[in-house]
Amino acid sequence: MTHEATAQESSEPDPPRDSSKILDTPLARDVATSLRGERPSIPCRYLYDDRGSRLFDEITLQPEYYLTRTEEAILEQHADAIVARAAPHELVELGSGTGKKVPTLLQAVKRAGMPAKLVLFEINAAMINASVARVKREHPEVQVTGVVGTFPDELQRLGPGGDRLVLFLGSTLGNQHPAQVPGFLTRVAQQMHPGDDLLLGLDLVKDPARLEAAYNDAAGVTASFSLNLLSVLNRELGADFDASAFEHVAVWEAESSWIRIALRARRDQHVRVPGAGVELRLRAGQEIQTEVSCKYTRPMLEQRLAGTGLALDQWHTDAHEDFAVALLRREADADPTR
Ligand code: AVJ
Repeated sequence: MTHEATAQESSEPDPPRDSSKILDTPLARDVATSLRGERPSIPCRYLYDDRGSRLFDEITLQPEYYLTRTEEAILEQHADAIVARAAPHELVELGSGTGKKVPTLLQAVKRAGMPAKLVLFEINAAMINASVARVKREHPEVQVTGVVGTFPDELQRLGPGGDRLVLFLGSTLGNQHPAQVPGFLTRVAQQMHPGDDLLLGLDLVKDPARLEAAYNDAAGVTASFSLNLLSVLNRELGADFDASAFEHVAVWEAESSWIRIALRARRDQHVRVPGAGVELRLRAGQEIQTEVSCKYTRPMLEQRLAGTGLALDQWHTDAHEDFAVALLRREADADPTR
């Protein structure tokens, strides 16, 4: 929704910038904050416009990007054990994307003869519609609904839990800054009843060369995916980013246990982002951070679960321990009067 210029604004002498172009959208508000200051960044959720979502799907097919296929193999192997333990009546997938992750678990739920209800929770409405249509076509007996929203702030749209299995797969949790993870997991736990479960897909700490290769694929798909974020800002906020003036960088930072992804300015430049009311002056070599992708160990996860109301119940990995699928159980409330 655009925010029209008001009489007061237009009567101001020599405004610092054309405030009539500032938009009142989540993207505009987020970018107005994140692009300002010493360490400019753009929230990674905006990577997933239609083109970005397609590019991400292409990333998952690159030989260097072992995450998706490894997680899928773990799920294939352990879906029955997971479903037997969780005994869900409802599957809720957070960040379902193009909806490629849920089929394996859905099959296991069907094999177990459980009534299958599926909720897809996603930021991109077009993707949700496509995924809902596909599940309806492939599994006509499954009651499937889509909920458009962002997490964790809009998770309450899911309503209360009960026999619920929440799926947060694909290492999506890795995008959360470690300091935010306990709060995030607490919010998810609040949408679950005691005894409900959360299935988390986590990428594990490993040889830095392999980690960096996964985010610097030879075909350049990850670079295109990152740079696409600048097209999103150009289109949605009237920005004048020149993508050829930036390069994609992804580096392993062991101290933080994450791959840090950024767009690095190839030269000094001045970028206008009118929709967010921001002017950005970058020196050559300066970076705009687009993502962190945290890599876990089992102790790191256990540490971050403290106080969230979730306890580790199952831990499944592949033979090389490249990736883990963790089943977390919502504990009983500490206060029995609640
Ligand atoms: C969708 C967050 C799991 O961190 O591996 C892949 C995103 N960014 N390549 C990841 C991503 C660049 C991806 N997640």
